[in-house]
Amino acid sequence: MSNTNDIAALKANNGKYIWHPMAHPKAMLATPPDIIARGEGCWVWDVDGHKMLDGVGGLWSANLGHSNQAVRNAVIAQMDTLPFYNAFRGTTHVKAIELSTRLVELMQPEGVAAMMFSNGGSDAVEGALKIARQYHKLRGQADRTKFISLRQGYHGVHFGGMSVNGNSNFRRPYEPLLPGCFHIDTPWLYHNPYAQDPVELGRLCAELLEREIVFQGPDTVAAFIAEPVQGAGGVIVPPENYWPLIRAVCDRHGVLLIADEVVTGFGRTGQMFGTRLWGVNADMWCLAKGISSGYVPLGATAMSAKVHEAFLNDTTGLGAVSHGYTYSAHPVAAAAAMATLDELQRLDLPAHAGRVGAVMQARLRELVHTCPFVGDVRGVGLMLGIEMVADKAARTPMPRSSDVPARVAREAYQRGLMVRISGPNLILSPPLVISSEEINTLCEVLEASFAAVAKTL
Ligand SMILES: Cc1ncc(COP(=O)(O)O)c(C=O)c1O
Repeated sequence: MSNTNDIAALKANNGKYIWHPMAHPKAMLATPPDIIARGEGCWVWDVDGHKMLDGVGGLWSANLGHSNQAVRNAVIAQMDTLPFYNAFRGTTHVKAIELSTRLVELMQPEGVAAMMFSNGGSDAVEGALKIARQYHKLRGQADRTKFISLRQGYHGVHFGGMSVNGNSNFRRPYEPLLPGCFHIDTPWLYHNPYAQDPVELGRLCAELLEREIVFQGPDTVAAFIAEPVQGAGGVIVPPENYWPLIRAVCDRHGVLLIADEVVTGFGRTGQMFGTRLWGVNADMWCLAKGISSGYVPLGATAMSAKVHEAFLNDTTGLGAVSHGYTYSAHPVAAAAAMATLDELQRLDLPAHAGRVGAVMQARLRELVHTCPFVGDVRGVGLMLGIEMVADKAARTPMPRSSDVPARVAREAYQRGLMVRISGPNLILSPPLVISSEEINTLCEVLEASFAAVAKTL
C-alpha cells in the first residue's frame, strides 16, 4: 500500500462505513483505529508500512503467528476439494469427521467424548448454555435452568453469553438480559474484600458459589461457567485451590461445570487446556480462537462423556440437538484447525509458551517496582495483564477518564509493539511461536514505553 491517497481513503471510509466491535462509531471517527495491512510470523505492518511485534496475537488467536504455510496450504487444498457442505443431520463431510476425531483424541485426558461445532467463541458459549439446560431436561430436572458465573468474566456477546458476562459495560445497552443468571465475586487477589492469602481467598470464593447455589435452590441451577484464567477481564489468575474446590461444589449439587477456554485453550497458558493448569475436568469446554489460529472462524463445544451419554441414553424424545449453524464444522475452518493442531503438536507450543511466558512474566513483574503507575502485573504463560493505578497504596485503578493507558499503548506502537488496552489494563497475548529474542524485544519496548509516560506525569 504505497499510494497516500488510497491510504487516506481507506482511513476515511473505515470511519464512515464500519461499526467496530466494542467501539462507539463516533469515537472511531475522532480516533481512527490503526489499519493493519500485512502479517508475517509474530510481526504485523500497518498501511503506512510501520512494522510491529504483535503483542496481541490478532486477538488472543494467531497462535501460530501470521503466515503459517501449513495452515495456508491446508486451507487452499480444502478450497480446491470442497469449499463448503453442511453438517446438518442428512449430510456430513470428511474434514468435520477428521477434526472431531482429532479433538476428542486430544481431549482424552479431559474425558471428552464428542464435539459440537460452531463459528466462534460466542457460539461455543451459547451452545454450552443451551446444552446444559437440555441435559437436565433429559434427566428429568427441567427446573434446572439458572446459570452462575463470575464478575469480570467474559463469555462473548450472544444473549446467553452476555447474560453471564461479568462486565456491566457489555450488558447495560442490551438489558433486559436472560433471566436466571447470577454473578459471584471472582477470586482476584489484587482486588477483593475477603483475603490476601491466596488459599484462603480460593476457599472463600468457592464457598460463595456454594452459598449462591444453595440460596437459589440447587434443583434450579443448570451450570456454573468460568474461564480457567480470566482473559478480557484483566488476566486474572485464580488461586490454585479454586478450581478443584468449585468442581467439588458443582458435584455436590448436580451443577454442570462449563470451562470457557476460548482464550486459554490450545496452549496459551503453557498447558494444552486451562483446566489442566488446575488438574480439574469440566463437563463442557468452549473452544475457539487458537483452534484454527484465528485464520478461519471456528468454534466448538466439547462434551464430556457424562453429557454425551445423557443424550445417547435419552428416552424423553427431547434429545435432538435443536441448535447449530449453516457453517457449523465449515470444511475450510476444519482444515485450518487440523493443520493448526499438527503445528501445535509438532512444535510443542504449549511447553514453549510456558517457557518463554515464564521469562516474560518474571521480567514484566518488575514494572510494579520500577513504574510509579503500575499496580499489578499478573498472568500465566503467554497471557499477561498490567494494571495501571491512580494510587498504588490504595490499589485504585486508573480511572476511565485517564489517557495514561492509551498513551502507553501509543508509545509502544511507535516503538514497534502492538498491545491492547482494556480499561486500566494493558493486555499481552502474543503468538505462541514467539521466540526468546522477540520476548526480549517485547519487554524492552514495553519498559521504554512505561518509562516514557512516567517521565511526563
Ligand atoms: C473467554 C471468552 N469467551 C468467549 C469469547 C467470545 O468469542 P468470539 O469473539 O469469538 O465470539 C471470548 C472473546 O474474546 C473470550 O475471551
